[in-house]
Amino acid sequence: GQSEVTLNDGRRMPQLGLGVWRTPADDAARVVAAALDAGYQAVDTASAYKNEDGVGQALAGRDTFLTTKLWNDDQGYDEALRAFDASAKRLGRDSVDLYLIHWPAPKKGRFVDSWKALVRLQREGRAKSIGVSNFTEDHLTRIIDETGVTPAVNQIELHPRFQQTALRAFHARHGIQTESWSPLGQGQLLEDPALGDIARRTGKSPAQVIIRWHLDSGLIVIPKTVNPERLKQNIAVFDFALDAAAMEAIAGLDSPEGRIGPDPMTATF
Ligand code: A2P
Repeated sequence: GQSEVTLNDGRRMPQLGLGVWRTPADDAARVVAAALDAGYQAVDTASAYKNEDGVGQALAGRDTFLTTKLWNDDQGYDEALRAFDASAKRLGRDSVDLYLIHWPAPKKGRFVDSWKALVRLQREGRAKSIGVSNFTEDHLTRIIDETGVTPAVNQIELHPRFQQTALRAFHARHGIQTESWSPLGQGQLLEDPALGDIARRTGKSPAQVIIRWHLDSGLIVIPKTVNPERLKQNIAVFDFALDAAAMEAIAGLDSPEGRIGPDPMTATF
């Protein structure tokens, strides 16, 4: 069976889900429907992805674990409450399983007010769990100190080439689950020779090896694909294990230069 993690609010979350960043709006309903057929139990979208309508259509009447996110332009207390309503409407639901602040958006600097809105949404039962994305240790410390509420999840760029060891240790000390975005390094890791070796030895694909590494590392992982065969491939990862040699080889791929996406400390949007 598929594995779950327990969040710091006591709720359970599937460890593997489908990510739909860069899934075009017109494809979202088809892709998510195919993912449900393939056995996916969680979907991760965001207001900024512009595909909440299609995701919501495909999930109608299902109890699939659904995550969406507050966009930077909607930061602030009242703004966040309004943005949540708009997302919920597009998704066709009264509540979501997990609502995240997408970026700390340092330019606007309103993430503490936004966080207070999420705390209210959770109290009202509309966001069953609440968390953040792309927060650094400093951002996390601020919201925890100012509200006393620790996010359930911090979703960050994380893959074998950028393993975020220090931030993960901070999360572990505070009971925050780490969720990996771009877990395959946006596909750039699939040609890596070390991963290719492990794939050959285990009889799995490089993508499957990477996804298994996230699972074995205790991470929540949301690989993206629009391809039906890859959808099935990426979830066929509960029937093999990585041995110590494989884990060690993957540990060796970590690099300070491995980041692909924006740095949350300097992102200007
Ligand atoms: P596609 O959507 O065309 O299948 P990440 O989740 O790290 O952002 O990676 C997503 C990228 O990796 C997409 O370009 C996706 O392409 C590709 N991808 C996802 N799963 C696989 C797979 N099993 N094999 C090869 N490429 C994959």
